[in-house]
Amino acid sequence: MADSIKLNNDFKGKDIISLNQFSPEDITTLFTHTNLMKNIAKNAQSSDILKGNIITLIFYESSSRTFGSFSAAMKQLGGQTVEIQNPQEFSSVSKGETLEDTIRVFEAYSDAIVIRHPQIGTALKAADAASFVPIINAGDGIGEHPTQALLDLYTIYEKYQRLGNLTVVFAGDILNGRTIHSLLKGLSLYKNNKIYLLSPKELRLDPHELSKFIKQGLYIMEIETEKEIPKNADIWYWTRVQKERFASLKDYDKVKNRYIVTKDFLKKYAGKETMLMHPLPRVGEIHREVDTDERAVYLSTEIRNGMYIRMALLGLILGKL
Ligand code: NCD
Repeated sequence: MADSIKLNNDFKGKDIISLNQFSPEDITTLFTHTNLMKNIAKNAQSSDILKGNIITLIFYESSSRTFGSFSAAMKQLGGQTVEIQNPQEFSSVSKGETLEDTIRVFEAYSDAIVIRHPQIGTALKAADAASFVPIINAGDGIGEHPTQALLDLYTIYEKYQRLGNLTVVFAGDILNGRTIHSLLKGLSLYKNNKIYLLSPKELRLDPHELSKFIKQGLYIMEIETEKEIPKNADIWYWTRVQKERFASLKDYDKVKNRYIVTKDFLKKYAGKETMLMHPLPRVGEIHREVDTDERAVYLSTEIRNGMYIRMALLGLILGKL
């Protein structure tokens, strides 16, 4: 299954479905190329590494950032995109076309397919259906979001020059947050990381996943109140409660916005160096007054790094780097 196909430092033609596929060496390779991509994009150098390449972006679930980031990454490198948003409304999918057929069609038009879908496991299903082109998972329901985790890891590495020996607090919807699931897998590849999962009981990590991480040797602590946040954590990774995953609005209302980061909250519980991350969109869990704080990177570094990392990943997968 593509999910377990390791990259082994050879990205060309491979599907990117899960952080499980990555080793620390693969991540280092990706970062080396990401640094180069950053130079290209920052200095407005033109590059035609991906000239003649086309990728399809097919997003069954709404997205602006990830969609835009992949699209911009491709164009930065001289490539082109076929872009389809909400195919369940606007395409043959609405006529009942299966995912498999849709994938077979778009692999005839393009060199890779980036897919987002509300159901867990769909990226893997798409990878099984595709015969010629790699599939990149841009978020499969409550499953994973590997490219977000890679940009998060890159952002962490830029600040700390390491990916181990870090204290990281995840807050919000640990159960449904796919960016958290992928980033946890990434952090579990490195030694001596200490993870704190701050959430209401209802939004805790799936116990099966939790025990897998613990067996792997990752230090994970589940906490429920801000008072239990460790002093001077290196990273806070805040997330929204994933409203669309709830069966009833009442259940959502019960658990939303339990931990709201304000200037005061930061002062009380964060360290002077704590980097405040968020995959966005935010819906109230970080107050706007915090945006100008030097520790906040969600509207700046993380966004830019998302494009650089996707440029590198696309270049590698398409065999041009
Ligand atoms: C996240 C996602 O789609 O999983 N957003 C993103 O891709 N940057 C997080 C979210 O929707 O809460």
